[in-house]
Amino acid sequence: MIMRFQEKTVLITGGSRGIGAETARLFAAEGATVIITYHSDETSASELIGELGGNCAAVRVDLAVEQDIRVLFEKVRGDFGHLDVLVNNVGVTSSGDPLTFPLSEWNRIISTNLAGTFLCTQLAAPLLSKGAAVVNLSSLRGLEDHGRPPIIAYSTSKAGIISMTKTFAKALAPGVRVNCVSPGVTNTAIVETFDDALKASFIASIYLERLLEPAEIASAIAFLASDDASGITGVNLRVDGGQSLGR
Ligand SMILES: NC(=O)c1ccc[n+]([C@@H]2O[C@H](COP(=O)([O-])OP(=O)(O)OC[C@H]3O[C@@H](n4cnc5c(N)ncnc54)[C@H](OP(=O)(O)O)[C@@H]3O)[C@@H](O)[C@H]2O)c1
Repeated sequence: MIMRFQEKTVLITGGSRGIGAETARLFAAEGATVIITYHSDETSASELIGELGGNCAAVRVDLAVEQDIRVLFEKVRGDFGHLDVLVNNVGVTSSGDPLTFPLSEWNRIISTNLAGTFLCTQLAAPLLSKGAAVVNLSSLRGLEDHGRPPIIAYSTSKAGIISMTKTFAKALAPGVRVNCVSPGVTNTAIVETFDDALKASFIASIYLERLLEPAEIASAIAFLASDDASGITGVNLRVDGGQSLGR
């Protein structure tokens, strides 16, 4: 196996399951010390840390809570001293009619996804080594023309993350690269909430005729974080099986 992350320290927010957990496994397999955050499921986070081994660690963080994020970065600074990779992976959503969608729910989603990504990047900046990389998670739903009314807050937050990626890419250059991955529908816990008809309609709109797997998103994240992407900053990489091409 190629060991692209030997002696690198990697922080993945929301790394306890789904895409984040698969990304943690990939980085650890390629030599990294991985710090993951979780929100409510301490058991899964601990099990994953046991699986990753080494000096890997898990920290409980609610990304909607400023103080939690500040404590996280104090801990990273105290325990690890620096970061080589930050993956801003946490993303939450809920559905509702955009004309009656509660402001409180809008605020929860925007502060978790958008302000959380913003503050993590800001607080990571002084810890990032020369040549470090930040990878943000947007979504197919963050692309212009791909927002869906029932998830207006999520789509808006994810569109903001694409814009924020480009702005931080300029602000952190030349020492740090900042890129974004936009997954299509990916086989994680969210898919278990879809009925068969909804799942079939998504598959029908994906040229590869299947959902994406978390490992496929993880490999795109690792690519952008690695020296293989040393010339790439400010991009949004769509990993959506062609869904955003439209039918
Ligand atoms: N899955 C898809 O189809 C898809 C498609 C496009 C984009 N994405 C994006 O890819 C990223 C990962 O998606 P996923 O499906 O792998 O997510 P997931 O399975 O829902 O995992 C979410 C992770 O975030 C943590 N988390 C949840 N609420 C949090 C909060 N308020 N503060 C801090 N952490 C919190 C969870 O911790 P606990 O388990 O401890 O609660 C878990 O580790 C997200 O940004 C998502 O928007 C996913």
